[in-house]
Amino acid sequence: MSKEIVVSGIRSTGFLHIGNYFGAIHNYLKMQNDYNCFFFVADYHALTTHPDPKELKPNVYRVVAEYIASGLDTNKVALYAQSDIPEIPELYLMFNMMAYKGELEKVPTFKDKVRQHPDNVNAGLLTYPVLMAADILIHKAAKVPVGKDQEQHLEMARNFAQRFNNRYGELFPEPQVFRSDARTVKIMSLDGNGKMSKSENANAAIFLSDEDDVIRKKIMKAKTDAGPTEPDSKMPEYIQNIFLLMNLVSSSETINSYQTAYNNCNIRYGDMKKQLAEDMIAFIKPIRERAVELQQDEAQIRKILHEGAQKARISASKTIAEARKKIGINYY
Ligand code: ADP
Ligand code: TRP
Repeated sequence: MSKEIVVSGIRSTGFLHIGNYFGAIHNYLKMQNDYNCFFFVADYHALTTHPDPKELKPNVYRVVAEYIASGLDTNKVALYAQSDIPEIPELYLMFNMMAYKGELEKVPTFKDKVRQHPDNVNAGLLTYPVLMAADILIHKAAKVPVGKDQEQHLEMARNFAQRFNNRYGELFPEPQVFRSDARTVKIMSLDGNGKMSKSENANAAIFLSDEDDVIRKKIMKAKTDAGPTEPDSKMPEYIQNIFLLMNLVSSSETINSYQTAYNNCNIRYGDMKKQLAEDMIAFIKPIRERAVELQQDEAQIRKILHEGAQKARISASKTIAEARKKIGINYY
């Protein structure tokens, strides 16, 4: 039986953080053995915010290096840059004919961006989910490992697939969000304000590239309080987040001892954060070191991107030829 197809991408808009790791990459690693995986750097998506041209290449190279340092194996997956696959913008153009202004304007991520950058509401931002649908459907993916924040975009990808199929005949599957287990999580910012993200508060995000001391400082500054006063109290979200992080990188004995201390109202958050910082450092250090090493080897990164693009274009060109034919673009 042929393997199910998986597609996912991360925008090259900054340094990868542990939210990206545990929300997305952690799943990629699990999937790479059992699925036919296409993982990419969403560099076209990054253009919505007009990055400096000089920053593009280092940003893309860094994401590739961090993907590989995290454990992605290019013998198993196709790893490529979105902009190396011209079939993606072609499919995007086709889907744009079936995407309606009203539905695009209602997407919560679009509304957020309008609020954040009222002076840069460009059409690329509006059609962001259309490009994402093209990324996914160009390989006819069945499963898409992404964090919770991307569910609505996936629903739109299913809509565009359906609309195309209804109008022109069956071609695309309806891709589903893939989540492997409870470890696929939403990590909050260390200041307690919203999700950890590349672009919001850099001091409250832990990056895969952070040095040991930076990790220590950031974790020690994470929001806590005076601790519970009643046994078995409900945890505030920012405390849950510290426990969640501990769950991801510490041993079960460590977690259990702090959980018991919390329930007995004698928890010392200072000690807990110290322990968490050391466990986080042990987790990040090998990834960081490997990523730094890889980034110094530009020839290797170029080779990875080149080979990945070749693999991805085989499947992309097949799909686009079928889509053109269904639409009626076959003139000779
Ligand atoms: P960011 O929001 O940091 O710019 P992206 O939008 O490029 O990151 O997201 C890349 C992947 O990482 C997506 O699958 C997204 O769901 C996941 N992700 C991003 N932030 C978090 C977080 N704080 N917790 C869990 N998953 C996250
Ligand atoms: N929009 C996704 C994010 O911000 C990134 C992305 C672009 C993506 N294209 C994709 C994810 C295709 C999965 C599949 O996280």
